[in-house]
Amino acid sequence: MRRFVVLGQRATASPGFSLDNLPASSGRLDVLLRCLRAALLVSHGLRRDTVVYLVLLGGPEAPRTVRVEGATAQFVRPDERSLAVMVQKALAAPREGQGFVARRHGIAIADGGLDAVIADLGPSVPYLLEEGAPDLREVALDTADPVFFLGDHLGVDEVTRARLAALGAAPVSVGPVSVHADDAIVLVSNELDRRAPR
Ligand SMILES: C[S@@+](CC[C@H](N)C(=O)[O-])C[C@H]1O[C@@H](n2cnc3c(N)ncnc32)[C@H](O)[C@@H]1O
Repeated sequence: MRRFVVLGQRATASPGFSLDNLPASSGRLDVLLRCLRAALLVSHGLRRDTVVYLVLLGGPEAPRTVRVEGATAQFVRPDERSLAVMVQKALAAPREGQGFVARRHGIAIADGGLDAVIADLGPSVPYLLEEGAPDLREVALDTADPVFFLGDHLGVDEVTRARLAALGAAPVSVGPVSVHADDAIVLVSNELDRRAPR
């Protein structure tokens, strides 16, 4: 199973954002939605072997995390507005239970941020996607159960970086150029696709 954890430092955990002005009204949730598309959607389908966590650390209801599982997700469309509606509906549902609570097919939400994600991961090998780190083409990458943590447009803060280091996350880069978070995901997925036995 491939997992991607996108850390939205200001991405809103409340549903009251405007679909007509997503970047300005949502703490750049749009960045995370593009990551969701990049991780989960391929031409004419979903990556059934992939799980995406959007960690929403912005606004008065934070932290909350939306989890989307490719294995069971349905009606996931590639355009940002549709993805925003999907996340908005998940955030609008009443808060209940502990850990990840299912909202609809393949979509679940937790009251909590990074700790809720870590508790949910199960057996996995953690990596931190980071500019300037060793190239993932030159490390012994786990292709069975990797989990990749990455930042939003603001990157990853020092406290989170320390938490991930304590978890044993190995920093890796996708090349010498700092790219957008969703592009980093595409490059990782492509690398895993190339290494997957056919
Ligand atoms: C747009 S970048 C963040 C830029 C931000 N200004 C900073 O300095 O961290 C968003 C995220 O994509 C990932 N990323 C971007 N370029 C990368 C690269 N070359 N290798 C690995 N990860 C990368 C990192 O996780 C980064 O936090």
